[in-house]
Amino acid sequence: MRPEWYPQCWRELSALQQPEYDDQESLQCVNSTLTAAPPLVTAWEVDRFRGQLSAVADGRAFLLQGGDCSESFIDCEAGTILRKLKVLIQMSLVLIWGGRQRVVRVGRIAGQYAKPRSSPTEVVDGVTLPSYRGDIVNGSEPDIRARRPVPERMLRAYERSAMTLNYIRALSEGGFADLHHPENWDLEFVRNTPGSRRYQELLSTFSEAVQVLDVVAPGNSAELSRVDFFTSHEALLLEYEAALTRGDRRSGYYNLGTHFPWIGDRTRQLDGAHVEYCRGIRNPVGLKVGNTVSGSELIELLRILNPNNEPAKVVLIHRFGAGRIRERLPVLLDAVSSSGLSAVWCCDPMHGNTVSTGTGVKTRAFDDIVSEVFSAFQIHREHGSRLSGIHLELTGDDVTECVGGPGDLSEKDLERDYRSTVDPRLNYEQSMEIAFLLAEQLREQALSH
Ligand code: PEP
Ligand code: CO
Repeated sequence: MRPEWYPQCWRELSALQQPEYDDQESLQCVNSTLTAAPPLVTAWEVDRFRGQLSAVADGRAFLLQGGDCSESFIDCEAGTILRKLKVLIQMSLVLIWGGRQRVVRVGRIAGQYAKPRSSPTEVVDGVTLPSYRGDIVNGSEPDIRARRPVPERMLRAYERSAMTLNYIRALSEGGFADLHHPENWDLEFVRNTPGSRRYQELLSTFSEAVQVLDVVAPGNSAELSRVDFFTSHEALLLEYEAALTRGDRRSGYYNLGTHFPWIGDRTRQLDGAHVEYCRGIRNPVGLKVGNTVSGSELIELLRILNPNNEPAKVVLIHRFGAGRIRERLPVLLDAVSSSGLSAVWCCDPMHGNTVSTGTGVKTRAFDDIVSEVFSAFQIHREHGSRLSGIHLELTGDDVTECVGGPGDLSEKDLERDYRSTVDPRLNYEQSMEIAFLLAEQLREQALSH
């Protein structure tokens, strides 16, 4: 049994991947400002998200989580946010249609500003610099001054999260997300492919269904004029996460900086500060599960993070790589199923499939991503389990960061529009194509259960 939890108890344990601030006075000042600042989300919203995740746990809904590897301050901009929301909503329509089930939409957005790094330093153009740790910590410019961790960046991240969330709320509640206006849902910069033709058919089917519903049940289609959309980010920078944690012992503590925080693969040590922090909050928690987790370690993590064994508390986001999933996933599925512990299983086909090109550019091959997703569905089926969600790094823009896909992007194409400061994302067209492939898998899964 661990001692009683309080929001700062993680400070007793070792916290990996934290910046070392040299200005303690300004750190204290930022901490007090954040602690007093209005929360970004509410406990009611987090509970609503948990309710929707229960439907995912029961097999009545599918979890779609996606967005940038790392949001950047300069991308807190209307068009970029709108296109990210749009691609996720369009993908969700495809998945609803494919799986005939609800989709719970979650962005890696409005707070995804902190990045774990494999090394504290990196070499840029022959110069060794402290690693870039996300805009909430330091600047990405290859300059020693920009790389210094500055506490005030937490305030800038908080403000941008608030601005992003404000726009998302306005778009998802009002006209933009209204299925009565299919013109908002047209595809952009997408070739004429079987996938895009199927999408146009689907859109006209949806619009007809909405028109029929308006006639037979007037006033009852209000739910079709808005969408639920939740936020998530990696709970990495604990100083920030703890400052946005609110509540009391009686009603429980919530992280009100996001609906859905997750623990990264590099900070999931059993005796580490990140697991300790996450065990005390009422939000559902994601746990990235990479190649080095053993069955017994995973069971132990589930016991700590979900002591009451609630079905919609922990989402295991597995990320092994197309070549390793067959070796790793079955072991973990067996361990969890024989323990009787509950978890929602979600596949991240991005982080095990990162490669470097001959010129040192980080990329991912579309086919590897698809292959890991297909294997995940198949392995879950073979083990009497269910794949309940997908976790993707994507953008609504026409970038060139992952190779392959419907546009058959080559390594040479990566020079054209590579914008990510950390990991490569699926572009708009590649994301929509993944949605079509997933829809087919969901249809098969629905038929086989
Ligand atoms: C990420 O999701 O960007 C990430 C760093 O993932 P992981 O913890 O799985 O490596
Ligand atoms: Co990433």
